[in-house]
Amino acid sequence: MRYSRITGVGFKVPDRTITNDDLAGLMDTSDEWIVSRSGIKERHWVEEGEGTSDLSVEAAKQAMEMAGIQPEDIDLVVVGSLTSDYFFPGVGAQLQDKLGLRTVGSFDVKAACSAFVYSLSIGDQFIKTGQYDTILVVGAEVQSTALNVSNEGRDMAVLFGDGAGAAILQPAEDESRVLSTHMHSEGKYLKELWCEGPASLYHPRISHEHIDAGIHLPSMNGREVFKNAIKRFPEVINEALDANNLSLRDVKLIIPHQANLRISQAVAKKLGVSMDMVYSNIHKYGNTTGASIPIAMTEAYREGRFKKGDIIILAAFGAGFTWASAAIRW
Ligand code: COA
Repeated sequence: MRYSRITGVGFKVPDRTITNDDLAGLMDTSDEWIVSRSGIKERHWVEEGEGTSDLSVEAAKQAMEMAGIQPEDIDLVVVGSLTSDYFFPGVGAQLQDKLGLRTVGSFDVKAACSAFVYSLSIGDQFIKTGQYDTILVVGAEVQSTALNVSNEGRDMAVLFGDGAGAAILQPAEDESRVLSTHMHSEGKYLKELWCEGPASLYHPRISHEHIDAGIHLPSMNGREVFKNAIKRFPEVINEALDANNLSLRDVKLIIPHQANLRISQAVAKKLGVSMDMVYSNIHKYGNTTGASIPIAMTEAYREGRFKKGDIIILAAFGAGFTWASAAIRW
C-alpha cells in the first residue's frame, strides 16, 4: 500500500492589514465586541486587482521550495476555494499557467471552510492509487470583496479575511504519512451560511434587484453555525482518532479551521484538552475560509509546534454544512 506525505507547506496573506479599529470607523462595532465574540484583532484584505490566484501562487511557491521541487514535477493541482477570481473557471487552471506547470489536470473543490481537507483527501487518493507522484493542494480565499462594510453587514464583515495556504503531497518514504481523512456534509443547512448569487437558477443570474437585495453578499445564521460547529468538530476529530486507534494523548497538535476562537475553546472543552493543544492564529488573520487550515499548519510548523514523527489532526467545519478531518503523522 502506498501512502502520501506532506513535503512542503507555505502561505500568503495580502499586505493590507485591517484592524478592528479600522472597521469601527466604517460601522457600529468595536475592538472589544469583535475580540470578545471571535478572538480576532486584525485580518488582511486584498487590494483592488489582487485575486485568489495571486495569493495561491505565492503560497504554492513557498510549498514547492520547501519540498525542493520544480514546476515540471507537479502532476496535479487541487484548489479548495469558494472564491475563484472569476465566476468560472476555477483557480486551478490559473495556477497551471501562473506557476508554469505542464498541462496537468487542475480543478477547484467548492467545499467552503472544509475545502482544504477535502482537497488533501482527494490528493491523498491519487497518490495511494499510484496515478500521480507530486500534487499541489491549495486552500485559498478572497472574501473581503463580498463583505458589506456597513451596519447591515457587520456580523459577517468583522469575521472574514483573505489568504492562501498550500501543501505538496508526495509518496511516503517512511512512517511520515497522511494516516486517514474523513469527509461529511449535511445540505439541509444550506441557507444557514451561504451566498445566494450570482445563481444559475435565476435568469439572469444576477439583476439590479438582486444586487439591491444583497443576494451577492454572503449571509449567516451565526448561532446555528456555532451550535453545529461545536458538535461536528469533536465528532470528526474523534473519528480520525478512532480510525487509527489513537487517543488524544498521542496527538501533538489539533489544527482546526480558524472559524472563531470561541468555537475552538468550546471544542477544546468538549474534548477535555487544554488550548495549548489547539492551534489558533485567528487573532492575526480572521476566518480565511478554505485557506485557514493550510495557513495555520504552515505557521504552526514554522513555530516548531510539531516535528517529524508527531501526530497532528486537521479539522474543518463550514458552509454546506460540510466538515472533515485528516490525521497526519508528520
Ligand atoms: N459589532 C457589534 N455588534 C454586532 C456586530 C458587530 N460586528 N455584529 C452583530 N452585532 C450585534 C447584533 O446586531 C445583535 O444585536 P441585537 O442583540 O441588538 O440584535 C448582537 O450583536 C448579537 O450579539 P450576541 O448575541 O452576543 O451574538 P452572538 O453571541 O450570537 O455572536 C457571532 C455572534 C457571529 C460572533 C456568533 O454567533 C458566532 O461566532 N457564530 C459562528 C460564526 C462563524 O464562525 N462562522 C463561520 C463558520 S465557518
